[in-house]
Amino acid sequence: MTTLHQAPVSTVLDRLFALDETASPAATQAFDTLSGEERAALMTSKTAYPDLYRRAKDLPLAVSRETGTLLYMLARASRAATIVEYGTSFGISTLHLASALRDNGGGRLVGSEFEPSKVAKARENIAAAGLADLVEIREGDALQTLARDLPLSIDLVLLDGAKGLYPEILALVEPYLRRGAIIVADNADWSPDYLARVRSPAAGYVSLPFGSDVELSTWIGSR
Ligand SMILES: C[S@@+](CC[C@H](N)C(=O)[O-])C[C@H]1O[C@@H](n2cnc3c(N)ncnc32)[C@H](O)[C@@H]1O
Repeated sequence: MTTLHQAPVSTVLDRLFALDETASPAATQAFDTLSGEERAALMTSKTAYPDLYRRAKDLPLAVSRETGTLLYMLARASRAATIVEYGTSFGISTLHLASALRDNGGGRLVGSEFEPSKVAKARENIAAAGLADLVEIREGDALQTLARDLPLSIDLVLLDGAKGLYPEILALVEPYLRRGAIIVADNADWSPDYLARVRSPAAGYVSLPFGSDVELSTWIGSR
């Protein structure tokens, strides 16, 4: 058995996914009242994101159960020991990744979240799952918090914060990616600049869309 499928991790995840399911109609409804153009402008903006996410501060906005399982599998298969996460929210993706670290024998996950109430909830959830010793959540805008003190060799990155900033966050972690590092970007269709970079072999990546909402990439470049 993996830690993912056992209490306390499984019970915390069941509770959080149930919460996400209850909350998501409200999130979808608010989004549906916007025109297609308004939606695209908000989702791709490099400046409007603080307001957008502040309004969603009580919503988990979590990765799907499938993406969560994929994160666990990728972290296990690559024997990841160092993980960076952009966009932690209530910590659902973090729990999948940290339980993979536990099952890999230990490691370090650096998360990031700018909404203080979400940072508090994520820390509580991670502690309740018994994974606090593996996780550091940096409070503040990831443009600043991930610009310092990153692990010198990063095995896996999850991008799941404001989509417009995916290229900027990738630029922050890129110098530390180990050869063969995996980058999972949720809903990357909202970031055409990001897709152009990771789909360009000249930039050192091999990449493809995976499932309905993920861009899965690996860094094989050299410095
Ligand atoms: C889609 S949710 C993340 C869900 C989380 N990965 C999970 O599966 O549980 C995006 C989160 O990123 C946060 N966020 C967005 N832009 C950010 C930024 N520039 N810096 C830090 N946090 C950010 C939002 O507040 C929100 O909680």
